[in-house]
Parts: sequence; structure tokens; C-alpha cells
Amino acid sequence: MQTQKRDNQARPLRLIQITDTHLYRDPAGALLGLKTQDSFAKVVDLIASQQPDPDWIIATGDITQDSTPQAYQHFADTMARLPAPFCWIPGNHDNRETMVSTPAFKAAFLERVQLGNWQIIMLDTSVPGEVHGLLSEHELAHLEKSLASVATDDSLQHSLVCLHHNPIPGTAGWMQDIGLHNAQALLDILARYDSVRGVVYGHIHQTLDFEAHNLRFFCTPSTCIQFKPGVEDFALDLRNPAYRWFDLHADGRIDSQVERLQAYTMDVDQSAGGY
Ligand SMILES: [Fe+2]
Repeated sequence: MQTQKRDNQARPLRLIQITDTHLYRDPAGALLGLKTQDSFAKVVDLIASQQPDPDWIIATGDITQDSTPQAYQHFADTMARLPAPFCWIPGNHDNRETMVSTPAFKAAFLERVQLGNWQIIMLDTSVPGEVHGLLSEHELAHLEKSLASVATDDSLQHSLVCLHHNPIPGTAGWMQDIGLHNAQALLDILARYDSVRGVVYGHIHQTLDFEAHNLRFFCTPSTCIQFKPGVEDFALDLRNPAYRWFDLHADGRIDSQVERLQAYTMDVDQSAGGY
């Protein structure tokens, strides 16, 4: 586990979430008309202007749209402008092998990070060739072991669980089969430990902050296109690209907010029937 020990009694830990960047090998590549490298770079500029001293950054999957090494390189090059380390997990559009085998980014493939008295648990839910997610036995064992460690590690008190796929059904009819298929296995483990303060994900490209199953869940918008909630068939939302920040307090409280680009025009193909 990577450990970044900082006393977070004086001020909370500032964690940044970036998700669903969907980058291409060609920096001019567009998803439903939107140039994803351009909107991602603008979101990173926004983070740089608003977040002078972040402690850590998590990137929760769909880093690339085409899974090419060049697209991952674009991501890392852009992230280098931010003054904090990042770790990432794959989404359904990523290729885990490419992410793991790129030597320069091995440091980003972390299963667990300790920040102050918090542990950030990163779970890989990707299934090669599929849109939906699944937690393998390995990932479930990693989660269980990480949560169990709080009982024997005096430096740990709180846990934040991060994954790409939504473990709670999506908010639109077309989303019903694309989430985490074995979400109950995740929820069963989370219910056995009292250090879990939040579950963080992306994948459905929208803002959510709600309580369910005695847990708090956060979904974060993409740095590119947004999906309209509450509809039956696929539809784009014209809200701007965004990121999320979290303040992780030493007593386990979480403050969090989504920040969107201002003065940005969503130039997207609104007739698209899917992505
Ligand atoms: Fe995505």
C-alpha cells in the first residue's frame, strides 16, 4: 500500500476525483462530437486554478476511449500539470493490460492508498469486452482484506471505496444492465465493516450524492459528455464537463462538491442514440 502520512487533524485531506476522460490516440479525437482531450485539459486547468494543495487524485476509469498506449500517455502528460500524485482504475473502455504494462505509469496502478487516517481502496470492476462491471474473487478478497485491516492497524480509521461501475442501479432506463452485476457481493462485504464512509464511482456520467444501504454514494460527472438522468432511452445532458473534490476529515466526515467548467459550450451530437 502506498502511504502518504499527513496529520489531517489541522485540516482535512483534499482528494480530487477525475473520471471518464475517454481520451483517444489522436488528441483531436471526438466522442459524439466533443473533443475529449480538449475538455479534459480544460477541467485540469480548472482544478489547477481551484486546488492549490490537493493531497491525492483518483481517476475512476474510462481513462481512454480507444485503449491505446498513446491515449494513456496523453492522460499522464496532462495530469503532470497538477501538484499531486494520482492513481487509476480501469473502466469498460480501458485495457487493463495496457495500463499495467506501461512502465512509466506502474506507480498509478495502486490497489490501496493511505492518506492520514483514511484508506482509499481502488477496485477494478472491468470485464474485457463488456460494458457492465463485475468484481472478481481477487477484487472482493482485496476489499475484504483492506477493510479488515482497520481492526489491527491503529493508524487507520476510515475507508473510501472507489470503483468505475455504479453499484446502485443507474438513473435511466437504458442504464439498467450496464452497472456492477454483482453489486450485492460488494454490499454484503461493506455491511460487515463500520469504517466505510463512502463509495465513489463514475461510469454513468452524472452527479449523484445519496444514501442507501446505510452508506453514502457519490457519482461524478465525466470530463467530457454527460448522460441525462431519469430518461428511458439514451440521451445527452448539456451540463458542462466537471470534476469532484472531497474533504476527508479526521473524524470520518466527508464534504464534497462537483465543480463544472464555466463559459464552455457543449458541442455534442444530440441525436446520438448511444456512445
Ligand atoms: Fe464513461
